[in-house]
Amino acid sequence: MTEFLMMHGLTCSVVVSHGEGPPCVVYWGPSLPDDDPNEIAAALGRPLPHATIDVEAPVALIPELGSGFFGSPGIKGSRADGSGWAPRFTESKPPELEDGLVRLFCEDEVAALSYMVELWLPSDRDVLAARASLTNAGNTDYSLSRLSLSLPLPTQVDEILDFSGRWCDEFHPRRTEWEAGAIINENRRGRSSHDHVAVLFAGSSGFDENHGEVYGFHLGWSGNSRLVAERLSDGRRYLQAGELLFAGEVSLDPGETITAPWLYGAYAATGLGSVSRRFHDYLRAREGHPTLDSPRKVLLNTWEAVYFDHDLPTLKRLADVAAEVGAERFVLDDGWFHRRDNDNAGLGDWWVDATKYPDGLEPLVDHVTGLGLEFGLWVEPEMVNPDSDLYRNHPEWVLADPAYELVLGRNQLVLNLAHPDAYAYIFEKLDGLLTSLDIGYVKWDMNRDHVQPVHDGRPGTRAQTLALYRLLEELTTKHPDVEIESCSSGGGRADFEILRHTRRIWTSDCNDALERQRIQRGFSMLFPPELMGAHVGPHVSHTTRRTHDLGFRGAIAFMGHLGIEWNLLTATDDERAQVAELVRLHKKFRPLIHGGDMVRLDSHDEATMTQGVVSRDKVEALFVYARVTTARSSVPDPVQFAYLDPDRKYRAQILALPGRSGDFGRTQPAWMANGSVVLSGRALMKVGIQPPVLDPESALLFHLTEAE
Ligand code: GLA
Repeated sequence: MTEFLMMHGLTCSVVVSHGEGPPCVVYWGPSLPDDDPNEIAAALGRPLPHATIDVEAPVALIPELGSGFFGSPGIKGSRADGSGWAPRFTESKPPELEDGLVRLFCEDEVAALSYMVELWLPSDRDVLAARASLTNAGNTDYSLSRLSLSLPLPTQVDEILDFSGRWCDEFHPRRTEWEAGAIINENRRGRSSHDHVAVLFAGSSGFDENHGEVYGFHLGWSGNSRLVAERLSDGRRYLQAGELLFAGEVSLDPGETITAPWLYGAYAATGLGSVSRRFHDYLRAREGHPTLDSPRKVLLNTWEAVYFDHDLPTLKRLADVAAEVGAERFVLDDGWFHRRDNDNAGLGDWWVDATKYPDGLEPLVDHVTGLGLEFGLWVEPEMVNPDSDLYRNHPEWVLADPAYELVLGRNQLVLNLAHPDAYAYIFEKLDGLLTSLDIGYVKWDMNRDHVQPVHDGRPGTRAQTLALYRLLEELTTKHPDVEIESCSSGGGRADFEILRHTRRIWTSDCNDALERQRIQRGFSMLFPPELMGAHVGPHVSHTTRRTHDLGFRGAIAFMGHLGIEWNLLTATDDERAQVAELVRLHKKFRPLIHGGDMVRLDSHDEATMTQGVVSRDKVEALFVYARVTTARSSVPDPVQFAYLDPDRKYRAQILALPGRSGDFGRTQPAWMANGSVVLSGRALMKVGIQPPVLDPESALLFHLTEAE
């Protein structure tokens, strides 16, 4: 007999069917605290049209080809004799329920498989987390190439927002009308990737930041992934997500269990912004998330300042200037280890380069810490250059197919962390560095895709990903005070699972404020500002050659976890004073930026982009208004804010950041000339306030405070 159970989050409810056939989410949407799940399920019961099989196969959590589900099956696999490829499951024991967690159990005695699905929706959250574990209950191996979970979507959801991207253009939004058929997003790069991130939003037609029903999804996994959003010919819609497994990648021994990554989903009836805030709240509630008690340290990173050209006296002077401008952390990027003079050599040889640092790193670390700054170090542990002692001694430790010519990426190969000796070597080297030096921060990089990643004769991306997690876990357990940043050629590894082990994501290698404004907006769909590495680079961007004044660069970096990535030794005294002022202001507003609710505004006008934070009690807000291009109209539209308390009075004024060039047209708006304007939240949201005329590629900060 089919039974139904109901779970309730803060503002959403989920109805799950179980008992007969595979368990399904039959409803997921706005809270229905007073309704009986049996009645909801009865109301949604579907008739049979002509010319179909006689029992409609449900969009189960693990949909079944064997039951006649013609969309994407949740399990793909078989045994050597060809059996087990179309299993059909029934409940094997009643669900277990505890504190917002439901465990559902199923088996197929014919295929000799069983699975457990966990659904987690605590009453104080609004993110539904789900994952599946599959066990081979037979006595032969079961070769598995898919274990994915599916969640149904209601029919009013007919527009998709997902993201493409590339190096220096992460989280590029793509809006699609959801016609019949499937949108499939497959990532085979061995990292969460720049171009196929496992993130998708599905919403009602025309949904925007503050309107429309929106469902958001993310697969928490740092390896390969596959997302499918399908609209079936019978009208049903679903989202399916799981790890992308290569042929032969997983073979379950008799009795063996595999656990798939967590799939996260959030629903809101009030637009995309609300869904993002739900994801942010979820991350913020997780153990290990940076808290306001230990403010995010402003850092100076040496990469765009000196690249591989490390010279102790210069680096010491750079640290002096970093301290002068108020930085709290000094991160020594690539170039410090054995023979690392360019990107051709050295990866794998994780000891200090004796030519650049004859007395080791201690003199620099002592100098930096003596200035009161924390010392941070760049590493790329999952990689090896063919020109390295490590490779010369252990060519068998690479994650590749030795039968073929090796494919290089940035002159490097992937080191097979699932190889116990390679793992032990890397652990020992990193542990040694963290033990012997006063290191508070690690920038953990990963700069190439997997190509023919072979471990133990099989595809090895999954094994590598699990070994990476294990390595991070072991290191952070042994060195709990070290903060790790996830970097992968910029933002190529941004996902919820890597965030179990790291506390910051390097958003993009692009420090061009214009590009960054859009990249950061995309990044903020999932991640809150305190996790978003945002650096002020030099006037001329190193990745685009665009020139921007400090006012614009500073305004865009201001709203994340601020850093400086610029050789301040070449900056003028005025510029250093301006950077110092920017850092001072950032520190002042850091509790608001890193603790408030993130809000993106919609704009009718493509020339502007506005996003900001509103304090949780809604008494204060900070918005960056960026003029990104020239516009058709000579006077910009009023800025209509969002997410304010309609009944509260706010004083709105401009927060002057240093280094702004350009003027405000012939006259300023009257309210600006007066210094401020006082309006209700309602008026600020419905009427808005007139911004001044701004040059393209410049920005202003609006500061709203409660007015008496
Ligand atoms: C990657 C990172 C950069 C920098 C370089 C160093 O590209 O994304 O920030 O650390 O590597 O080689």
